[in-house]
Amino acid sequence: MAVIRVLSGIQPSGELHIGNYFGAIQAWVKDQYEFDSFFTIVDLHAITVEHTPEELRANTLSLAMTLLAAGLDPEVCTIFVQSHVSAHAELSWLLECTATYGELSRMTQFKEKGRSDESVRAALFTYPALMAADILLYQAERVPVGEDQRQHLELTRDIAIRFNTKYGETFKIPEATIPPLGARVMDLAHPTKKMSKSAKSRAGTIFILDTPDEISKKVSKAVTDTENKVRYDIANKPGVTNLLELFCAATGEHPSEVASRYSMYGDLKRNVADAIIALLEPLQQRYEELSEDPAEVSRILRLGAEKATEIAAPTLVLAKNNIGLVAP
Ligand code: TRP
Repeated sequence: MAVIRVLSGIQPSGELHIGNYFGAIQAWVKDQYEFDSFFTIVDLHAITVEHTPEELRANTLSLAMTLLAAGLDPEVCTIFVQSHVSAHAELSWLLECTATYGELSRMTQFKEKGRSDESVRAALFTYPALMAADILLYQAERVPVGEDQRQHLELTRDIAIRFNTKYGETFKIPEATIPPLGARVMDLAHPTKKMSKSAKSRAGTIFILDTPDEISKKVSKAVTDTENKVRYDIANKPGVTNLLELFCAATGEHPSEVASRYSMYGDLKRNVADAIIALLEPLQQRYEELSEDPAEVSRILRLGAEKATEIAAPTLVLAKNNIGLVAP
């Protein structure tokens, strides 16, 4: 039986929050037991925008520890840092030579972040070619990503199909797998906006490494409404609905059942905070342990990079050969 390969990536561009946890990491932890899974910390993508070298280094290691603490098991999946596997940068060039200027210009993420600004880095424009390389190098079939990455996945497929058609069969055509639940964790202070690490204030974002006290404070200040009825209603009660979603994401219960148990917002908030604190406690403890053993973290990442390099190598050789580069 052929094993299905999964690959996904995450940028080391700041602390992870519970939106990332419920929206992505939780699904990865599950996927690792079902598929041949590769998870990469995409540090090369993180330098497409303004950054500080020291912060990038710290963020990369902290993200690795957070992913391990959240349950990615290096004995079960392959977890590695993108820049440790040089094939990513190499294949990316071949794919930049396959993608067109027009295609890259149509990427909404580039349009939003960079189109009108002359000083953005050239690599922000070619970012999707590197992302395509991340995926195609491993012949991945499933790529778990958020809705915001769907367009990049479509482009990856287009590039792969074009490469295969022009130069001969080289890449598997991957598919995006968008998680059905968890994608909807909203900012506590602005419940109609998605929880995001780039929010102007930290008040509405619960970070995975927040202390129990910080979590309780943030949840108790969460914006609700004046109706004072606990009801699941996204359109009219986004704040309360978000609290119910959070509670259920943390406990596995169903929102409508939970709603009927509460009459006061205060009680709901206290229980939401407690559920999140309880969920994060073991994770935070493992994070603590890992941060006391940086040599172990380096060892895990080195082994991950070795395994990834081995799997990526034949695809890179095939792609170089098929596009017409002379073998050394
Ligand atoms: N662009 C993705 C994001 O911002 C991160 C990413 C990079 C990625 N390479 C990838 C995701 C490969 C999936 C597969 O979320």
